[in-house]
Amino acid sequence: MSRIILLTGATGTIGKLLLEFLNEKSTTEELTVRIIVRNVEKARENVKNFEKLKFEFVEGDLNDLDSLKDPQEVFNQIERLFILTIDSPDKSDIETRLAELALEHSPSLEQIVKFSALGASEDCETNSVFRWQGEAEKSLIKLLKNHNKKEKNHLVSLVLIRPNLFMQNLLWNDELESIKGGFLIRPDSNPTSLFHISHVDARDIAELISIVLLEKDHKKHGNQTYNITGPMVLTYEEIATMLSNHSGKEITYQAVPESYYADILKQAQLPNEFIWTMLKLYQTYKWNPMTRLIFSDFQIITGKPQRSFEQFLSDYQFSLKLQ
Ligand SMILES: NC(=O)c1ccc[n+]([C@@H]2O[C@H](COP(=O)([O-])OP(=O)(O)OC[C@H]3O[C@@H](n4cnc5c(N)ncnc54)[C@H](OP(=O)(O)O)[C@@H]3O)[C@@H](O)[C@H]2O)c1
Repeated sequence: MSRIILLTGATGTIGKLLLEFLNEKSTTEELTVRIIVRNVEKARENVKNFEKLKFEFVEGDLNDLDSLKDPQEVFNQIERLFILTIDSPDKSDIETRLAELALEHSPSLEQIVKFSALGASEDCETNSVFRWQGEAEKSLIKLLKNHNKKEKNHLVSLVLIRPNLFMQNLLWNDELESIKGGFLIRPDSNPTSLFHISHVDARDIAELISIVLLEKDHKKHGNQTYNITGPMVLTYEEIATMLSNHSGKEITYQAVPESYYADILKQAQLPNEFIWTMLKLYQTYKWNPMTRLIFSDFQIITGKPQRSFEQFLSDYQFSLKLQ
């Protein structure tokens, strides 16, 4: 019988890469990837060349899970659930509801993989993505602990994926436009100390997740947390130099006061909540010492070194994107 993995977030940065790795690494055995998505056509288009996998699409909005037409049908026979949701204060509620529905409707469920972030903690500020991730982690741990206590014949494990800041964020439109203009800009009201971040290639993250999801013996990854970072800690000055060397254009790092950065985002008519989320994000990457560490979890699981920043620039032909 075909194994079924249910994915959320499949049309985003990580989701698209994860599908590529699932397709590349799945063996001849039949694997069905069921995707909950808002726009089925978009999802179908993304996977049209993945011939090794069988796909099923379910139209659904994660913000309104209780309006899913037939939850029994959506969660039916899934063995694995991959949870990736966008950053919002409701993250914990959304992810917990998703897991509850899966536990309720799929007796074959054996593993939930939750996409989190390095530095996730309930102790962070109320307007921080790291707090929302921390709350969601805690809620899922509690849910599964209670489930496993009651259902001794249906034990489900939880794997937490905690990546550092993605290298691929440099491909965001606003960031590319700014770099094209010669500047890499970050909000930083304390520029005498530098950002030090072990940026990670999103391909490493997706590859590791694909290995976890494809491993037949789910107990092998048990209730692990995987911290995924790049192979080097980089300052934004170093990244600007690498961008200059790679593209042949002069690109300078500019630390701007947080108030100035907030004004730029206000002028772009971005919502107040988003502006605060971005400020808190960079404050955390500045002060949280965890995000300046290198972890070898990727190498231990895959047996390969992490992809470097230079490799990212070259594989994505970053210089062409700056023309
Ligand atoms: N970026 C980083 O550096 C970084 C670092 C560490 C952790 N993270 C974590 O990574 C996660 C984001 O991953 P990503 O960058 O791959 O996301 P992304 O590219 O923004 O994609 C978001 C995905 O979620 C789907 N989605 C959004 N709202 C939905 C809804 N209401 N119902 C159903 N689907 C919905 C989107 O579908 P549509 O196609 O319909 O929009 C898309 O597939 C966040 O949890 C963040 O905390 C990010």
